[in-house]
Amino acid sequence: MPILVTGCAGFIGSNFVHTWLSSSDEAVVNLDKLTYAGNLANLDALKGDPRHIFVQGDIGDCALVSKLLAEHKPRAVLNFAAESHVDRSIHGPGDFIETNVVGTFNLLESVRAYWQDLPAVEKEAFRFLHVSTDEVYGTLLPTDPPFAETKAFEPNSPYSASKAASDHLVRAWHHTYGLPVLTTNCSNNYGPYHFPEKLIPLVLLNALAGKPLPIYGDGQQVRDWLYVEDHCRAIARVLEAGKVGDTYNIGGWNEKTNLEVVHTLCAVLDELQPRADGKRYAEQITYVKDRPGHDRRYAIDARKIERDLGWKPQETFETGIRKTVQWYLANQTWVEGVTSGAYRQWVGKQYGA
Ligand code: NAD
Ligand code: DAU
Repeated sequence: MPILVTGCAGFIGSNFVHTWLSSSDEAVVNLDKLTYAGNLANLDALKGDPRHIFVQGDIGDCALVSKLLAEHKPRAVLNFAAESHVDRSIHGPGDFIETNVVGTFNLLESVRAYWQDLPAVEKEAFRFLHVSTDEVYGTLLPTDPPFAETKAFEPNSPYSASKAASDHLVRAWHHTYGLPVLTTNCSNNYGPYHFPEKLIPLVLLNALAGKPLPIYGDGQQVRDWLYVEDHCRAIARVLEAGKVGDTYNIGGWNEKTNLEVVHTLCAVLDELQPRADGKRYAEQITYVKDRPGHDRRYAIDARKIERDLGWKPQETFETGIRKTVQWYLANQTWVEGVTSGAYRQWVGKQYGA
């Protein structure tokens, strides 16, 4: 039986399909709307592979999702599809409510109808895995302990509020209808196929293009970074062995300020692709207006997934960031494809001239 995975033309979803198919022959039915963040070039390496079936469509389209479920009879549905960028949610929250809240609701309803009619053995084995974020927990003070699964939700941005709403829906569909769900809440990812609206790929590509490296506010905000393939392996492990109804926090104990991240990136670039004028990339750092409502610190307590499921990240921040820089340097065609017209419009809107 295949698995049905949504949002796999995006950053983490596409990495998930590559990771999954590198160690499994279970086919992936990939449902993706192809918003600005969806990019079929992320899946180029799978062209002609019968284990990957791509369908363009919306998770909120109940007729389409029901048809796909009836046709492919997946043993699990994994939901990566979402609007994912905090700054875009500040400019226009509507799409976030539509996909992250209403879309997840519609998806849950389609999946519930399918699951209810499965034969007993398949019904027992079925899983709905919802991919979520640490941002649902809100922000931390420097002395606070990292987010555990028991931490109350305190989302602060339209993005995190919409994700928190989706997590609550997933929880309720388990509690009320018995749908066998699993939820993962992960910290900041980085790695190949990361769309350059997010800090790491934006800074990397701006550095190479000789443009300013925009740091919001004082650059002392803390994020907890995880290499994307480690996240994908954690999701596969939760699907395999997670306790139905539970949530699992995923993170690599890698808290860094934004300035530290950007300086590390610049240092790796100085080594791998030095500036033609002999200067350092860090000289391009520019402080810009802060993000409204900017959360100060996120940090994940990953002890539950480590203890109960035996998962541990394979990359440190230093090895992961080096791999990431090498991937971007080696994939200029991909970069040119994503930095076309629509992307330039976003950069103009967010950063001005
Ligand atoms: P992304 O923005 O790169 O990709 C999202 C994908 O979902 C795109 O391919 C897009 O076309 C698709 N999509 C959007 N709306 C859709 C809809 N209505 N129907 C079908 N497809 C739709 O996002 P990402 O960074 O890969 O994040 C994937 C998931 O992981 C999201 O749920 C996000 O909240 C979560 N997450 C992300 C991070 C991170 O650091 N990027 C960390 C933790 C959790
Ligand atoms: O924590 C998990 C979340 O991580 C995911 O749920 C989101 O989908 C994902 O986008 C990410 O959210 P962040 O807002 O933390 O990521 P972003 O890359 O946008 O920003 C990281 C930090 O860098 C944040 O503190 C804002 C800052 N920043 C970002 C950009 C784009 C800058 O200083 N300058 C920038 O130009």
